[in-house]
Amino acid sequence: MSASEKIEITDINSDLQGKEPQEIIEYALETHDNIAISFSGAEDVVLVDMATKLKKDVQVFSLDTGRLHPETYRYLDKVRQHYGIAIDIQTPEAEPLNQLVREKGLFSFYQDGHKECCGVRKIMPLKRKLLTLDAWITGQRKDQSPGTRNEIPVIQEDRAFSRPGETLTKFNPLSNWTSDQVWRYIRQNNVPYNELHDRGFVSIGCEPCTRATGPGQHEREGRWWWEEATLKECGLHDVNIKK
Ligand code: ADX
Ligand code: SF4
Repeated sequence: MSASEKIEITDINSDLQGKEPQEIIEYALETHDNIAISFSGAEDVVLVDMATKLKKDVQVFSLDTGRLHPETYRYLDKVRQHYGIAIDIQTPEAEPLNQLVREKGLFSFYQDGHKECCGVRKIMPLKRKLLTLDAWITGQRKDQSPGTRNEIPVIQEDRAFSRPGETLTKFNPLSNWTSDQVWRYIRQNNVPYNELHDRGFVSIGCEPCTRATGPGQHEREGRWWWEEATLKECGLHDVNIKK
């Protein structure tokens, strides 16, 4: 990316900062043909709801780590049927996964951290998917993780996954929305949601690495609770980690 393109993306970000998520999604879809929503199977469903109102056949993909809750699998299928969309389910590659499990078993992340398992189960499949796209849309918000997300722009150059000579653009249309705003939208628009949310799960990832949170706890405390807050990014959003 040239210096002028960098300035341009910063300018666009300043323009979009005050806009509603719907307007940001509209801009993203208008300016990129080859763009997809990265859907985790949680409250980021609002992106799918907003986008399908603008474009019926919007591309959506999800990373199936093999370790999601049964409720999340059922929910992914519910969303597929409710919106009449194809969800491109990306799975880990067999060989690196077999090797990890053979060498370290199924719960190595409790001993030596989540990076290795997330690397095989999420990041490799994500990289494979992003090779086919010019831009992606995520449901990240500033209020999700004070340790890592409080400066998320609504549009950014994805330095972590861009290829040499080809810039990958990343949109985070919900960046400035709070959890309350997301949930108000879900209720007001009768958006189907993951049933785990009714059982105290706020932030939802893989089953062994997610737990319900209680009153007064931050939602991020339900994820990789044995690790330090500033490390709580699985690599999907490596661009958030200050190196
Ligand atoms: S994570 O990096 O800690 O796992 P988080 O669960 O907060 O991310 O979700 C933030 C955004 O990352 C989601 O809104 C979604 O865009 C993307 N994301 C997270 N997990 C997945 C997944 N399994 N498949 C697709 N996208 C995902
Ligand atoms: Fe593995 Fe946990 Fe990462 Fe899922 S969240 S890929 S189970 S370390």
